[in-house]
Amino acid sequence: MYRTNTCGELRLADAGKKVTLAGWVQRIRKMGSLNFVDLRDRYGITQLVADDTADKTVIDTINSLGREYVIQAEGVVSERQSKNPKMPTGDIEIKLDKINILNAAVTPPFTIEDQSDGGDDLRAKYRYLDLRRGPLQRALALRHRMAIETRNYLDGNNFMEIETPFLIKSTPEGARDFVVPSRMNPGEFYALPQSPQTFKQLLMVAGYDRYFQIVRCFRDEDLRADRQPEFTQIDCEMSFVEREDILKMFEGLVKHLFKNVLGKTFDEPFERISYDEAMSFYGSDKPDLRFGMQMHEITSLVQGKGFSVFDSAEYVGAIAVPGCANYSRKQTDELTEWVKRPQVGAKGLVFIKFADEVKSTIDKFYTPEQIAEIAKNVGAEKGDLILILCGPKHKTQVALGTLRLEMGSRLGLRKPEDFKPLWVYDFPLLEWDDETQRFYAMHHPFTSPKPEDLDKFYSNKQEDLADVKANAYDIVLNGNEIGGGSIRIFDRKIQERMFEILGFSHEQAEYRFGFLMNAFKFGAPPHGGIAFGFDRLCALFGGQETIRDFIAFPKNNMGRDVMAEAPSVIDDAQMEELFLKSTVKKEQ
Ligand code: AMO
Repeated sequence: MYRTNTCGELRLADAGKKVTLAGWVQRIRKMGSLNFVDLRDRYGITQLVADDTADKTVIDTINSLGREYVIQAEGVVSERQSKNPKMPTGDIEIKLDKINILNAAVTPPFTIEDQSDGGDDLRAKYRYLDLRRGPLQRALALRHRMAIETRNYLDGNNFMEIETPFLIKSTPEGARDFVVPSRMNPGEFYALPQSPQTFKQLLMVAGYDRYFQIVRCFRDEDLRADRQPEFTQIDCEMSFVEREDILKMFEGLVKHLFKNVLGKTFDEPFERISYDEAMSFYGSDKPDLRFGMQMHEITSLVQGKGFSVFDSAEYVGAIAVPGCANYSRKQTDELTEWVKRPQVGAKGLVFIKFADEVKSTIDKFYTPEQIAEIAKNVGAEKGDLILILCGPKHKTQVALGTLRLEMGSRLGLRKPEDFKPLWVYDFPLLEWDDETQRFYAMHHPFTSPKPEDLDKFYSNKQEDLADVKANAYDIVLNGNEIGGGSIRIFDRKIQERMFEILGFSHEQAEYRFGFLMNAFKFGAPPHGGIAFGFDRLCALFGGQETIRDFIAFPKNNMGRDVMAEAPSVIDDAQMEELFLKSTVKKEQ
């Protein structure tokens, strides 16, 4: 037997027991006549000790140890002289009788402790060493617990977990597909699924009325902190449901996870706001509700007073930043530069320091009464700094929303341990793209238009189509989209019209989605569903916005696995077998 106990479980109550532990050497210290070894496994760290009177072979072995050696240690659990209240095992140590090296290790390229001295690249190259560190172990343990609790909740609600294929037909819409050449079908390719969307709908046609899957999805898109080329969804679909049924069921899932994983309860239903409200009040379709500072449109209030910048703008909006009226010139200059950065894209920033003495950049154009009126409309209190942006409506709302988030961060109002989930609903069905001069589905082509907008859906006018709302919803947590879904089209004719609006000819629609359209002929039930971004959900539960450390083996920003060095060139024989000809000249 390699071990009787783990390195995290022994306590004072175990004193006197003879135990065997196994694990990795975290640290070796000599203090006077005492030799200490910190032994680590995934359950914790236990201190081993031998004084100079111990068996010579024990002392010799300790002297030959290095960091990360794998050892087995036998001894008696004893009360420590100087206890360490910071460690769960800090009251005890193991007085060594025997120590056995199971495997030597070369010196690791960085320290394997909670605070490591290794940079991102180095730790990514040696991911298996990084994974030995406490923060990553805790992240993966959290992810495991989330998966188990998800299964518990969904199983308890009659959902069946069903696997869908990874080698599927390429149906590019949304992100780019990763494709896989077929050896048995020369010149033809599979795609890896961006999501199991069509399959879960087919499962509804097949009568599996409550489906879920914790499933890998693949998207060839530009990467960010909250995006990986392969990521995991909690993918769900239900039949005979309306939006309300879905929101209730999955609000239940999120509450179950909060309660069973973090011990947090939410007594109130999650807030719900429409897409239009989210844009007006927060300049984002994924608002962070951990703090107020809502946006206010003041276009009609400020126009016609001789300030041409406002007069010519489609939209003028403002936020009141609490307690910042005392900002210095340097600080407001810096903020002005900040909003002009391309990532924000505002032309400039107007501000009002709303204190006992009101100071603003627009004093010339507005009387003190008018300024007070603006402040009232924006909900400002004495001591607030009012920040105003103007320009084209959507763009300016987004810029003001970005500024709101920035001010929230600067004021420390976005605490990771606060959780503010909400639903955003009634998204536009379609988005017009100027470059390609066509509509794209804002969610995906299977999302149902709202029944009251069907007239507009069949109209040929661009402005009517742009106005159609989708029966779609997102779930948002602390400014992050953690899930999205919709009630689906289940009528073949409406689906055909959708493809027509998206610019597919009848033949193209048939070629890409014929299997689904065909299935709709055979009795498709009304259905709808949702998918959660599992990695994002885990990261937020763990108090972070970057998903990388909640995935055991993630890719870097270039989509590379720097540990195994993928992607990589394949040899000519493999290329030939797959009927691929390399267009890149390989260096010999
Ligand atoms: P959607 O495309 O909105 O919907 O994806 C669902 C959720 O998946 C997460 N997500 C990602 N997480 C990490 N890396 C990525 N590259 C990435 N892309 C998306 C987000 C998102 O909310 N089939 C539909 C769902 C449905 O309609 O039921 C779908 O895939 O958190």
